[in-house]
Amino acid sequence: MLSIPQLISELPKAELHVHIEGTLEPEQVFELAERNGVSLNFASVEALRKAYVFSDLQEFLDIYYVGMQVLQTERDFYDLAQAYFQRAAKDKVRHAEIFFDPQAHTGRGVTIDTVISGLLRAASDASKLGITVYLIPCFLRHLPASDAESTLESLTPYLQQLHAVGLDSSELDFPPIDFKNVFDRAASLGLRRVAHAGEEGPPEYVRQALDELHVDRIDHGNRALEDQNLVSELAARQVPLTVCPLSNLRLGGVSDLKDHPLKQMLNAGLLATVNSDDPAYFGGYVNENFRRVAEALQLSAADIVQLSKNSFIGSFLDEQTKKDWVRSIETLEQELGVSAE
Ligand code: ADE
Ligand code: ZN
Repeated sequence: MLSIPQLISELPKAELHVHIEGTLEPEQVFELAERNGVSLNFASVEALRKAYVFSDLQEFLDIYYVGMQVLQTERDFYDLAQAYFQRAAKDKVRHAEIFFDPQAHTGRGVTIDTVISGLLRAASDASKLGITVYLIPCFLRHLPASDAESTLESLTPYLQQLHAVGLDSSELDFPPIDFKNVFDRAASLGLRRVAHAGEEGPPEYVRQALDELHVDRIDHGNRALEDQNLVSELAARQVPLTVCPLSNLRLGGVSDLKDHPLKQMLNAGLLATVNSDDPAYFGGYVNENFRRVAEALQLSAADIVQLSKNSFIGSFLDEQTKKDWVRSIETLEQELGVSAE
């Protein structure tokens, strides 16, 4: 009988919540800093890694936005994404919908073309690793909505290469409703929509993301569990939640993974998925998130298989491709002799 960690290693996955800038490992920060002549405030890779201790989302974001300043050229964005795809392939990620933060780069003089060209070149090469890639630019909610609106207009030349827009950065005091206009505009351009909500913010923000931004998915969504009506609606509509256990642990959403709400979400019939968020900062890529949360919550083989299926069902892949993935997971389940209980 296969162990749970073995099962996790074997199953194909879609990663639906990873910020590509959050995959920037300390080693690569130093490498790119040297290449680009950027001086760092840390003496060594180890010193930088040691600084990755956060008590909340804002403490993390303060370091995250500084770290990404080493990304300056098309090649830097290519190298960043290429390193992530190589890492993800080892975890049997077969489809990745990656977030990036255009404003965090254009705000310091890097052009949108530099960012997107590098990411697209890496996405194209990822097919050699057996990974399909969709790109999702996110608006920074700590900046004015007007800034998000001009950012969206600057993205229109790349519309065919983008699948959705997202909303991220500091959540508390930055309600989704402030971004209604830009999300409406994205919808009119044919883009899907996702938003971080209920990571630190109240269930009301999840409600706004659904009702005002008309999102197709909720990123995190943990605090939705505080509102039973919201849970019923998310379950009835099978709105995917892109859950990130190690992120929640490292940013103080839960103080112990044993308290993580993932099992509760599955029990409530929610379409929960497991993802890595900012793996270079939070101590693990997607399989490590699966392993740690499975161990803490004593997830069954059936739960793990369900989460693998959910990752494709919750993706923006077309319906036939989703069905094909679900079927191939079922075939693998039989080959591996996974019991259905
Ligand atoms: N940007 C990168 N990671 C994020 C997170 N976990 N929440 C909000 N914004 C982010
Ligand atoms: Zn995130």
